Amino acid sequence: HTRCSSVSWGSEMCIRDSYKGAFFKMQILFNEQSRTFHLTNDKISYIMTVLPNGHLSQVYFGKKVHDKADFSYLIQSCARPTTSYISEEFHNIISLSHIRQEYPVYGTSDYRQPAIEICQTNGSKISDFHYQSHSISKGKPKLENLPATYTENDDEALTLTIHLQDPVTLVEIDLLYTIFAQNGIIARSAKIYNQGKDDVHLTTAMSLCLDLPDCDYEWLQFSGTWSRERHLKVRKLEQGITAINSTRGHSSHEHNPFIILKRPTTDENKGEAIGFSLIYSGNFLAQAEVDTHDVTRVLMGINPTTFDWKLEPNTSFQTPEAVMIYTDDGLNNLSQSFHKLFQKRLARGYWRDKARPILINNWEATYFDFNEDKLVTIASKAKECGVELFVLDDGWFGKRTSDYAGLGDWYPNTDRLPNGIKGLAERIENLGMKFGLWIEPEMTNMDSDLYRNHPDWILHVPGRHSSECRHQYVLDYSRKEVVDYIYNLLAKILREAKISYIKWDMNRSITECYSVAYPADRQGEIFHRHILGVYDLYERLTSEFPHILFESCASGGARFDPGLLYYAPQGWASDDSDAIERLKIQYGTSFAYPISSIGSHVSVTPNHQVYRLTPLHTRANVAYFGTFGYELDLNKLTPAEQEEVKEQIKFMKEYREIFQFGTFYRLSSPFENNVTAWMVVSEDKETAIVGWYRVLNGINLPYSRIYLQGLNPDFCYQQSIDGKSYFGDELMNIGLVIDDPSAGQPYGDMATSCDFDSKVYVLKAINK
Ligand code: DGJ
Repeated sequence: HTRCSSVSWGSEMCIRDSYKGAFFKMQILFNEQSRTFHLTNDKISYIMTVLPNGHLSQVYFGKKVHDKADFSYLIQSCARPTTSYISEEFHNIISLSHIRQEYPVYGTSDYRQPAIEICQTNGSKISDFHYQSHSISKGKPKLENLPATYTENDDEALTLTIHLQDPVTLVEIDLLYTIFAQNGIIARSAKIYNQGKDDVHLTTAMSLCLDLPDCDYEWLQFSGTWSRERHLKVRKLEQGITAINSTRGHSSHEHNPFIILKRPTTDENKGEAIGFSLIYSGNFLAQAEVDTHDVTRVLMGINPTTFDWKLEPNTSFQTPEAVMIYTDDGLNNLSQSFHKLFQKRLARGYWRDKARPILINNWEATYFDFNEDKLVTIASKAKECGVELFVLDDGWFGKRTSDYAGLGDWYPNTDRLPNGIKGLAERIENLGMKFGLWIEPEMTNMDSDLYRNHPDWILHVPGRHSSECRHQYVLDYSRKEVVDYIYNLLAKILREAKISYIKWDMNRSITECYSVAYPADRQGEIFHRHILGVYDLYERLTSEFPHILFESCASGGARFDPGLLYYAPQGWASDDSDAIERLKIQYGTSFAYPISSIGSHVSVTPNHQVYRLTPLHTRANVAYFGTFGYELDLNKLTPAEQEEVKEQIKFMKEYREIFQFGTFYRLSSPFENNVTAWMVVSEDKETAIVGWYRVLNGINLPYSRIYLQGLNPDFCYQQSIDGKSYFGDELMNIGLVIDDPSAGQPYGDMATSCDFDSKVYVLKAINK
């Protein structure tokens, strides 16, 4: 046995966690002899090394290990039959096929999918990147024009930049790795520079590549369709490619730019998992390729299928950021790390840390059929019940009396709003409420002044049919003049009227993605340039109007992604407002996204999407675990129901900080059980709230218990329904006993349970 030596150079920082008062330590170590990098904090180690021939190789990502001078025994490069090799230097034959790499290319002995592909003027796509230098800096640099995680002070993170070069094209890459002080987080991106004399085309430029040494993982993805977003799908990794993507121009209803690899034995509360999230709202690819030696390559970034970026000499391209988080404490812990990062260091601005206003939205109450008085009537009743914000949805502008017309004409329709938005906003403010407004700034209808005046401002191919969806076209946001035009119209309204909230919608995927403003050899850039235009408009409006609360939306949840969380701290999770459907949607969403970001409302029964009848208390019990609001006309409820709504609002006002900013735990999955359960716990663990939901009722049922999480075992908690007290360890180890009238024989009025029943339990520490 040789002794481990630990000679390392690099940066080391200690920070005090402002929430818990504990010390966290992070380091980026570099060993000059072995040219090994080690990024580490109290949770993780991320190790890579420069091979003798200059390639950058992945060594380890996982639970923290001691630093050592040399980890080269982990570079497994045995000679294998029929292997092509790039180098015979030193005693080993280096075949890139069998080496785990940080940013691999195709065509120089690695046959797996690459992280980068560069097409050159001679038609060659071959490149070969070698380590040149590196630097370590405190904090985290901003990514130009792209959303990304950030630090508030330099002590929160360290960033390693590794500089690579291809000696033939003279293309250079900066690989950025940020390790945060807390949790197992590594943020990554790549910046690619053309330092050569010729143009090149980037046809693949991923944000992240991670080669893992085995394939003993289950792959979790969050997929669906309109009104059925982010349903959990699980499958085992096998040799070959497992992938999800979007080619629609937005992150999509169909797949979310978030995946998890977990060990088969990992569950919510124990075991290893790695989550991967792309901070991007456009076309993405997330894939895991298992080779025939069971090595797993994870790639995440802009979808290469719809991407081709012309990189002229002396220009650069910045990829979006990808975040990876490792845990060995189960999926709840993984989600909590994502929640905290996204809530505190991705979302920004005035509303980031604030409990969200309880709102009422008129969409399901009126659709396009309203006038000013009708809206004020809805708002007045809502105010009487305690609602704080009235949101005017679609239909207030141009000739927008149906979804056939008006998009792009962002001035009030004075037939229905004679006093304009300014006048309506004043009336709402005079009621003592805040006023919010819906917009869909990336779109236009054929029947609109915008389209009549600028038919070439839509994404379209001249001479070809332009496909419609919901009777609308997508504006070409790769053109600055288009973004400027929309910005001017919207900024005028926001300057004139007292508007406190914006719901930013986007109701169709892109087709015929072509911009008449760009030459043929730049058409592969349009999808990405379009989304950069969307980010530009978001940046301009959010910085000019910092007190406005922005909620993103895309036919419900088609763009519920981390890219938009940077601008809008909450998003409408789905157009499906049925409480039972929402169990799966909100449960799936919670794997990556914090409760403060999940827009969820109480709507009418029969529900407008699935025509289901659910009790009013269940609709609220689901919506509490989100930003909370109403999507109906409260005037149409019975007096008893209106009283119930008043109680719901009072309850939410009392506990919303805990719902939205507490630590969230999933307890029972709607994807596996008839019962869904989840809970939130306050930072000090003195208050916890448990949601219990049963889809179908039964008779003479077994007794049921829910095993709680995250409580202080020594605190004694008073439970809100039976008024009795229980120790934290009792509730976690023995379980919360559900007082269920269906466990037994129903007698007349004693049968109080029904299909779609639910309960919310509040637990308050009474002796600490
Ligand atoms: C789709 C959104 O998801 C709905 O909430 C609503 O705003 C409609 N668009 C309005 O057209």
